[in-house]
Amino acid sequence: MTTHGSVWLATARMSRYDVLATDQQADVLVVGGGVIGLTTALQLQLEGADVVLVEAGRIGARTSGNTTGKVTSQHGAIYAGLLDRHGIDTARQYATANQAAVEEVAELVGRFGIDCELVRSPAFVYSTESADLSREAEVAAQLGLPAHNVDPTELGLPLTATEVVRFDNQVQLHPSRYLGGLAAAFSRAGGRIFERTRVTELNTEGDRVEARTEPGSTVRANHAIVATLLPIGLLGGYFARTRPNQSHGIAVRLPVQAPSGMAISVDDPVRSTRPWPGGGPNGLIVVGGDHETGDQDDTDAVYRGLIDWVSSLWNTQAQAEYRWSAQDYSTPDQLPYVGKAPGSSILIATGMHKWGLTNGMVAAGILRDLVLGRENPWSSAYDAGRIGGARAVAELVKDNLKVGKEFAGGHLRRLLDSGLDHVEVGQGGLYDADGHTVGAYRDPDGRLHTVVPVCTHLGCPLRWNQGDATWDCNCHGSRFAPDGSVLDGPAVSPLKTPDH
Ligand SMILES: Cc1cc2nc3c(=O)[nH]c(=O)nc-3n(C[C@H](O)[C@H](O)[C@H](O)COP(=O)(O)OP(=O)(O)OC[C@H]3O[C@@H](n4cnc5c(N)ncnc54)[C@H](O)[C@@H]3O)c2cc1C
Ligand code: FES
Repeated sequence: MTTHGSVWLATARMSRYDVLATDQQADVLVVGGGVIGLTTALQLQLEGADVVLVEAGRIGARTSGNTTGKVTSQHGAIYAGLLDRHGIDTARQYATANQAAVEEVAELVGRFGIDCELVRSPAFVYSTESADLSREAEVAAQLGLPAHNVDPTELGLPLTATEVVRFDNQVQLHPSRYLGGLAAAFSRAGGRIFERTRVTELNTEGDRVEARTEPGSTVRANHAIVATLLPIGLLGGYFARTRPNQSHGIAVRLPVQAPSGMAISVDDPVRSTRPWPGGGPNGLIVVGGDHETGDQDDTDAVYRGLIDWVSSLWNTQAQAEYRWSAQDYSTPDQLPYVGKAPGSSILIATGMHKWGLTNGMVAAGILRDLVLGRENPWSSAYDAGRIGGARAVAELVKDNLKVGKEFAGGHLRRLLDSGLDHVEVGQGGLYDADGHTVGAYRDPDGRLHTVVPVCTHLGCPLRWNQGDATWDCNCHGSRFAPDGSVLDGPAVSPLKTPDH
């Protein structure tokens, strides 16, 4: 029996917080209760700021609660590429910032006594193909990271690796318990958290920011930090300069003890592994099957690919006890965007390249220092302003407004040639309803959910993701539940209901 949902969220007891029912005033408004929003809010509250954090759903329940839980400066094999592309100063800033972030996470866990299964272990990056990782180890070491080229047998996986690089003394933890601990520490320090409260509009008036929310109250603050994975709506034009990429995860029990280290391949497809402590000594987490959000017809097959990989490596009939997916954004030059959005006083953080547990800690420090008017040693590598000035961004947004319309033509051609009566239990997709295209899903209780399958961000057509039962947008990564409610932005409004 496979539970559909993150193993971490299923095994963490998270406190619940109220919906925002009355207007609030604060020094700082933080929008989004993932790892970046929570870490930034906690740091600012500890510095004496009065912080309100507003979360659309539940704290830590989106991407941050669906990670692999690796807290490491080893982000695949990136350092040789960063050096070649950005030069030694920027590559060193990125490396040093992320290695420092590993220690900052460990320090926070210790300081607040967060019970999150934190363990120190090596993090391996390996290839089973012809990739040459020897320069990666050399460059990473030159940048000051604890990286070494090691004998492939050290990896501990039953496969033939050609090259293995080991990063020493990294961290793995239970991400949801970590996030729950951050939220509790923030609350204890006097911070205010509101859940099930979506920010739908942000208006700046002079130096002040006013956020309108669903279900209706407002928050006014001197500073606003938008930590919503991708900035909402059109803010800063970041939706046009990032790509959403989804990965899938499974938790399995092997017939033998699981390797104790963390590992990630540079092969295609990528496989990322680490122990699953909740599954006992044989428990293993495998994450992979990467693809752009909204570009897969058969996401069930992606999960089968992960299970088959485990079955063939360990010569077993593996069963996924949990399976889940999540997405993160990448930037064209591999570096996150953190700082002030062009033409606005609003601060943002996005584009963590699936390494937001350390990059998010770096982002939190940069955002905190921007609010407090302090210098930050890493801010130039993460500069959010490199997207362009306000005028360039306005052009970018204008060009992208056309995107939805252009995609919508192709959408009608994908229409299924059957009516709503044919939607089977557990199935979803596009259907013909009296000559109109309708998105439909029949839930396990037999209830039919219908939506207009057009993204409420900029109007792109949505694709049904059967493996996760979501409507996904390939344009900029908005995702919606079968009832049309927003799961991930940049969209802020639910899908429309068909009126026929
Ligand atoms: C499968 C997978 C595995 C990963 N594993 C790792 C790993 O092992 N190590 C690592 O370092 N990184 C990992 N990452 C990357 C990491 O998870 C992300 O970079 C990080 O979680 C991003 O954090 P966030 O706070 O920006 O986003 P989120 O966690 O998505 O938080 C954003 C929050 O904002 C809320 N929100 C959105 N819109 C609104 C709105 N309008 N109003 C109010 N709230 C809103 C959302 O509900 C959400 O809770 C992984 C990513 C994926 C996809
Ligand atoms: S996310 Fe932008 S159009 Fe869907």
